[in-house]
Amino acid sequence: MARILSIVFNPSVDISCDAESVQHTMKVRTHNLKQYPGGGGTNVARVVAELGGHAELLYLSGGAVGSMFEKLLAAGSLAGHRFPIADETRISLAVREEQTRREYRFVPEGPVVTTAELQPALDFIADYGADYIVASGSLPRNAPADTYARIAAIASRTGARYILDTSRQALKSAVEKGGIFLLKPNVGELESIEGTKLDEEGATRAALAIVRRGAAEHVVVTFGREGALLAGSGGVLRVPARHVETVSAVGAGDSFVGAMTWSLAEGHSIEEAFRFGVAAGAAAAMTPGSELCRRADVFALYEAGSRTIN
Ligand SMILES: Nc1ncnc2c1ncn2[C@@H]1O[C@H](COP(=O)(O)OP(=O)(O)OP(=O)(O)O)[C@@H](O)[C@H]1O
Ligand SMILES: [Mg+2]
Repeated sequence: MARILSIVFNPSVDISCDAESVQHTMKVRTHNLKQYPGGGGTNVARVVAELGGHAELLYLSGGAVGSMFEKLLAAGSLAGHRFPIADETRISLAVREEQTRREYRFVPEGPVVTTAELQPALDFIADYGADYIVASGSLPRNAPADTYARIAAIASRTGARYILDTSRQALKSAVEKGGIFLLKPNVGELESIEGTKLDEEGATRAALAIVRRGAAEHVVVTFGREGALLAGSGGVLRVPARHVETVSAVGAGDSFVGAMTWSLAEGHSIEEAFRFGVAAGAAAAMTPGSELCRRADVFALYEAGSRTIN
């Protein structure tokens, strides 16, 4: 079985709840509280498990919230490798306003880490022997912007396929250095690499250019409810989003990456993995709050997709 190591350097305890209406100054009374272990890489590992695979999670955590994160991981039977930090793990909050069905999301920047705290995690990745290394999410404060680029170098050395989903400077730095198997920016993140607004044709060109200069073997650009494209040396595959009743698109990107990772680890082709990603992104949109995709929805949407798309 392919070994998947999923990395979350900036995990969070994700809390979601509902409120009738969200107003300033007044106490906003909430109900339907849910809590999950979150942050990009955590969600990826959870999706792999949901689809019947197995991924181990490498995470940094600290303080009381860090302990809570660990308890939530254990409750979900996720295997984790913890690297302690002195600062406190973050709590993200999503409040759904029932009157308007709008969602308000509060996402802290997260703890400060030191290079001394980060180094043992990098050493662990180098020694782990993964077939797939997935890094997803933001970097905590103070982590060098080239941290994800350094993991690409480790993956090249150890022969692992490296899947990366991040943003801002961490993304730019990784794309400059290269060594990525699969890069998954959304169109906004691709625009931030290119430094310009992109329509679909521009996004296709930019994704192909990243492939041609060898920075990534495959680039998937996601466009929210407009679907996604896959660019590789064989050309471009463009797939519209599966049409579903959208409850909350939170977690669509992570579900997409988790499903692609699971599918690739099962030995499927990149195109098939991409279609599983599209199905999982839509399946995540069907679930409330920060809930990720559900297995039955992913498979049903995948089957329906393969009947209609060539
Ligand atoms: N409302 C929706 N209906 C159907 N499919 C959707 C919807 N939203 C997202 N998806 C699917 O999920 C994929 C990923 O979504 P999106 O582009 O929003 O990712 P993202 O911006 O990385 O998300 P995240 O905020 O989770 O990081 C899309 O390409 C699409 O296939
Ligand atoms: Mg994303």
